[in-house]
Amino acid sequence: MRRRFVAGNWKLNLGPAQAAALAEALRTGLADRGDVDVAVFPTALSIAAVLPILQGSGIEVGVQDIHSADAGAFTGANSPAIAREAGCTRTLIGHSERRQIFGETDASVNKKVRAALAAGLLPIVCIGETLAERDAGQAEAVVHRQVAAALEGLTADQIPGLTLAYEPVWAIGTGRTATPEQAQDVHASIRGWLRAHYPSFVADETRIQYGGSVNAKNASQLLSCPDIDGALVGGASLKLDDFRAIVVA
Ligand code: 13P
Repeated sequence: MRRRFVAGNWKLNLGPAQAAALAEALRTGLADRGDVDVAVFPTALSIAAVLPILQGSGIEVGVQDIHSADAGAFTGANSPAIAREAGCTRTLIGHSERRQIFGETDASVNKKVRAALAAGLLPIVCIGETLAERDAGQAEAVVHRQVAAALEGLTADQIPGLTLAYEPVWAIGTGRTATPEQAQDVHASIRGWLRAHYPSFVADETRIQYGGSVNAKNASQLLSCPDIDGALVGGASLKLDDFRAIVVA
C-alpha cells in the first residue's frame, strides 16, 4: 500500500512574511490530515521563515531545485548538503519550468538525483511531455526516457525513496487538467516501465504524483485512480482552503 503524498510547489511566490503566514495556517489547518504525507516547497529565500513554524508538524519542507555539487564556485546555486543541514528533507528536481526556462537536461536531472540522495534529501523527480509531443503520440516514450535517465545508476533499493511527479507540460498553470483517464494511463505506463526494469517492489512502492492544474474540485477524481498516489500542486497550494481540500481528497 502506497501512502498518499501531496506536495505544494510555491514556485517564485510568497516572501518570508507571506510564506510564514501560510505555514502557520497549514500547521493548524492540516493538523487532522490523517494518513497523508504533506510537503511544501517555498522559494529558497523563504525556507528559513517556514522551517521553524512547520517543525514538529509533520509537514515537510523542501527546496525547489538543487545543484549537483554540495559546495564550490557555483554562484547562485542551492547546495543539497546545505539544504539538508538547514532542515529541508526533500527537493524537486527536473520541473518542466527548470527544463524549459533554465536548460535542465535529462543528464543534469540524473546528476542532481544522485547528489540529493547522497546528501539525504528525497527527490521528487518531475517528468512530462509537451503538447506537441502528446499530439505526436510520444507522451509515453518521452516520460519513459525521462524516468530512465533520472534513475540511471541508482540501485533498486534507492528508488522507492524518491517520488515521480507526472506533470504534462500542457496542464501546468493552464487550467487544463489531464482527465483522470489520461493521467491514469500515463501513470500505469510509468509503473509498467518500472516493473519491466526493476524487481517488482520498486513498481509497487514508488509513488507517482500527478501535477498540472490540480485544484479543490478535480483532486478527488484524479486521486481515486489506482496509479495516482498523490499530487504536486502549484497555484492551488498557495491558498490554505484549496490545498487543504486537495489533502483531504
Ligand atoms: P499548477 O498546479 O499551477 O498547474 O502547477 C503545477 C506544477 O507545476 C507543480 O509543480
